[in-house]
Amino acid sequence: MAKEIKKIMVTGAAGQIGSELILILREKYGDENVLATDVIRKDGAGLFESVDVTKKGSIEEVIKKHNIDTIYHLAAILSAKGEENPALAWDVNINGTYNILEIAREYKINRIFIPSSIAAFGPETPRDNTPQETILRPKTMYGLTKVAGELLGDYYVKKFDIDVRGCRFPGIISHKTLPGGGTTDYAVEIFFAAIKNKKYTCFVREDTVLPMMYMPDCLKAAVDLMEADFSQLKHHADFNLSAMSFSAKELAEEIKKHIPEFVCEYKPDFRQKIADSWPKSIDDSFARKEWGWKPQYDLAGMTKDMLQALSKRQKEGTLNC
Ligand code: SER
Repeated sequence: MAKEIKKIMVTGAAGQIGSELILILREKYGDENVLATDVIRKDGAGLFESVDVTKKGSIEEVIKKHNIDTIYHLAAILSAKGEENPALAWDVNINGTYNILEIAREYKINRIFIPSSIAAFGPETPRDNTPQETILRPKTMYGLTKVAGELLGDYYVKKFDIDVRGCRFPGIISHKTLPGGGTTDYAVEIFFAAIKNKKYTCFVREDTVLPMMYMPDCLKAAVDLMEADFSQLKHHADFNLSAMSFSAKELAEEIKKHIPEFVCEYKPDFRQKIADSWPKSIDDSFARKEWGWKPQYDLAGMTKDMLQALSKRQKEGTLNC
């Protein structure tokens, strides 16, 4: 079944993961072979087309024009924004994903990546070392759309012989593009605030523990899973992934090792309830076994790298993104 990756389209290319993934993919497959798409063009996007994934025709036009054979479908509304606007989350995450899968079937797309999330789990899921096969009863609109995406992905593999792959990303920490409307955003905001103001008001309690991952590991996961030997994959669109887990307080303490004056306060808001419904740590042994997943960054390594990168941006005057 595995056919070649030649011409890639990335949806949601202006987002936190997309904006960095296109750079890695272009390095690997060539600038002219990686098309960035999003609803609105972002400066410096390179080869770019405007695509609204909720409009099937808008995707189709671009697939035909650029002879696309591989899709990284990243366009999605995250958990917190999804609770503020559930209808939008349904439209983008469900209809958008369905459109992408249907186009993959109709245009015989070789390979598709559709990320899922720790949001696929819910309060009834075991929270420590969460197993691969477990209870999926999420309580957010984002989470339920991600479960549907996983199930649809597996359905298209079995029913239509389409090569769909995906993993359950934890909170992603990065310094280039801010995440847009997730519950794990505090783990990114805290770094920007520490560098800019040496203080941060965190929107979850200090004892909130969630699984997280540094961007270089996230990009590696996406690329490695897409390049894995299909015949070795027993799972397809729902791989558990893990890198590190820490409480909000442990993160603040780690930052303080570098910036001793840093002060973190805690004022939980509606996102606390979402965080409390997600796992603390994840068992990713199937990803390790089936396609060799292994993260590189832990809390200390990630914190050091984040602070170095953001200090550099502050000196250059490019921190206000
Ligand atoms: N980072 C996402 C969120 O917080 C989880 O996948 O919504």
